[in-house]
Amino acid sequence: MYNSKIIGMGKYVPENVVTNEDLTSIMDTSHEWIVERTGIEERRHIKKGDGNTTATMGVKAAKIAIERAKIDKNDIDLILFATLSPDYYFPGSGVIVQHQLDIPSCPAMDIRNQCSGFIYALSTADQFIKTGMYKNILIIGSENHSGGLDMSTRGRGVSVIFGDGAGAVAVSRSDDDKGLLSTHLHSEGQFAEELALIGPSTNRWVPEILEANDSEDISYYPNMNGQLVFKNAVVRFSEVIMEGLQHNQLTPDQIDMLIPHQANLRISQFIQRKFGLSDDQVYNNIMRYGNTTAGSIPIALTEAWEEDKIKSGDLVVLAAFGSGFTWGSALIRW
Ligand code: ACO
Repeated sequence: MYNSKIIGMGKYVPENVVTNEDLTSIMDTSHEWIVERTGIEERRHIKKGDGNTTATMGVKAAKIAIERAKIDKNDIDLILFATLSPDYYFPGSGVIVQHQLDIPSCPAMDIRNQCSGFIYALSTADQFIKTGMYKNILIIGSENHSGGLDMSTRGRGVSVIFGDGAGAVAVSRSDDDKGLLSTHLHSEGQFAEELALIGPSTNRWVPEILEANDSEDISYYPNMNGQLVFKNAVVRFSEVIMEGLQHNQLTPDQIDMLIPHQANLRISQFIQRKFGLSDDQVYNNIMRYGNTTAGSIPIALTEAWEEDKIKSGDLVVLAAFGSGFTWGSALIRW
């Protein structure tokens, strides 16, 4: 059986920086509140007219990942695109990437698992490589949150958290014992509406929303039960990391680098304490980018690697929790 290995990584974030201070001019919030509750200091937002979309940001990150992987784009056998904010309701953004990368034809699949999207995509890639079906798989996690957030005081509990950006990795078949050790995925759909964007959807079609003409209707903004998400996140993060360690007969003290989904710095710090890890064993960049959902882990992984924080032979653990609820982990021998 083959092994899967990440052989190239890239990231792209829009140039437009939105600080907490900037937000205070459009909603009732403060730098202190946001930093104390989330750790976020600034995030990137697409600016109207700057040419960025979920797919084009993904393409920019992907080009860097492909170059670093030293593979030809035409050798990519499959594109997996993780996002909750695709360019169109349909088709998915993966096909736009295939076109913009100028790959004549290859399968492209969108993965709709929100903050866990990258881990779900990594797991999917691993299965295709292990079976021998594909050799080189491009995974992209990208989000354009900013255009769809309620930037008034009413939406502040959600909108201050999210930022735009994309990360990408090239995963390839490997013959040595390094690479992806295992992935572990979960969902609990009873909580689907606790962190969701309900309408427009097939549950609430656009004509229905227009006909209701209800100025109080905010179902087209994301809705989040923040405290419930927080409480579930700390439990599920811990469980799924432990599940991965036990599956590989490893213990928490063997973790070299934990890269958690960047949902809230307080969640990452809780996990860090729980597993007895030092500051340099957990990579966080939520301070600079906020929560970029499916983009967050590949962006953080790219930066950790660029900053030389991951070395050959390290045990790298990725973990995520988010809307669905869905959660997962991936263990990598780098
Ligand atoms: N600025 C100032 N005050 C605010 C803001 C803001 N931006 N947002 C909310 N408040 C106020 C509330 O109105 C409330 O005021 P009240 O006490 O007068 O009613 C008070 O602050 C506390 O609000 P809570 O919502 O209870 O604040 P909490 O401590 O729970 O923090 C937060 C909110 C940061 C969202 C937290 O719950 C959290 O991080 N949850 C997890 C988020 C997460 O992990 N999401 C998963 C990934 S997302 C995905 O999958 C798409």
